[in-house]
Amino acid sequence: MSKKKVLVTGGAGFIGGNFVQYMVERYPEYDVYNLDELTYAGDLTKHSGIESKDNYHFVKADIADRETIIPLFKKEKFDYVVHFAAESHVDRSITDPEIFTRTNVLGTQVILDAAKSIDITKFVHVSTDEVYGELDFDPTTFFTEETPLQPNSPYSASKASSDFLVRAYHETFGMPVNITRCSNNYGPYHFPEKLIPLTISRVLNDEKVPVYGDGKNIRDWLHVQDHCSAIDLVLHDGTSGEVYNVGGHNECTNLEVVKTIINTLEKSDDLIEFVTDRLGHDKRYAIDPTKLEKLGWKPTYNFETGIAQTIQWYLDNKKWWEQIISGEYQSYFEKQYSI
Ligand code: NAD
Ligand code: DAU
Repeated sequence: MSKKKVLVTGGAGFIGGNFVQYMVERYPEYDVYNLDELTYAGDLTKHSGIESKDNYHFVKADIADRETIIPLFKKEKFDYVVHFAAESHVDRSITDPEIFTRTNVLGTQVILDAAKSIDITKFVHVSTDEVYGELDFDPTTFFTEETPLQPNSPYSASKASSDFLVRAYHETFGMPVNITRCSNNYGPYHFPEKLIPLTISRVLNDEKVPVYGDGKNIRDWLHVQDHCSAIDLVLHDGTSGEVYNVGGHNECTNLEVVKTIINTLEKSDDLIEFVTDRLGHDKRYAIDPTKLEKLGWKPTYNFETGIAQTIQWYLDNKKWWEQIISGEYQSYFEKQYSI
């Protein structure tokens, strides 16, 4: 019997990269294809441990390039598609929104058309809790799958648009799909433009850490390995057409996150620099994961154990993040922050 083929788009990025490694190790009976354009956020050095494995394959391609994507699907006849590829950073969507529409909306449309042209078993669209907009600080309120979509940034608006396209391909063409909406991830290979790896890398270099506004905005943090296990479960057991929220009840203010990292690394809070707030900065995200828990999912990390593991990973893998921050990131950082 031939092996099942799993296509992972965006598998050179942070979450897609962790997911590719998870799938290659966990399912030797699957052929795992990592399709990625290798934008500033994509990097293949993270896959040095799996690149020689028989069940790992890499395809360099742009998801919005119809002329390449459709023939590829017709040739390979993938069984499963897990779609991560996207522009993912909110701050970049504020300064340069157009690429977000092209990649996240048009790119998703092309991947859907390609999947429609073959007979797939399941298409999982990896979306985000940001499509729901923001919550206020009342700790008893959560995003559920029924919360109306009210995206506030160009990034979340593009993700919400792609969610609607995925839903439409299920309703109109009967495509077997799931949409997952996860809260903020952290863990190994997180690109240092995002709060947690930015803080760890800057604190390790004794550099100031920019905290937006008063630092009281709340995010609900989930270790990337727990996101991978959630997607694995939804891919195999999720009911077609359903949305699943993913989150582990780990709400923290940004200031708490930054101080935890500074304290763990035994540095001084003087490294904190309050800077101008992000435009349209969402106040609070918090996920109700009951539906996914009923499917059988349980996270393995809480924030305390996950952040300790993550800080240790950045201490052990300085070469990886130093290589990242010496590239395009340098000019990005100078444009974004005046600290
Ligand atoms: P990332 O920015 O680290 O990685 C994105 C990857 O997509 C990169 O490897 C990049 O090269 C690739 N890519 C970008 N444009 C492409 C194109 N046109 N064609 C092919 N590949 C392209 O992103 P991430 O943080 O790993 O997020 C992955 C997905 O998960 C995104 O869809 C994001 O919306 C979603 N998500 C992220 C989080 C989070 O906390 N980071 C939480 C929930 C959902
Ligand atoms: O909720 C899921 C989303 O989480 C994903 O869909 C996005 O792809 C991902 O980037 C993330 O979005 P956020 O905007 O929440 O993550 P970010 O790490 O950029 O910021 C986290 C919080 O920290 C946010 O309130 C803004 C704040 N922040 C961020 C940066 C980069 C700072 O205070 N200073 C900073 O330098």
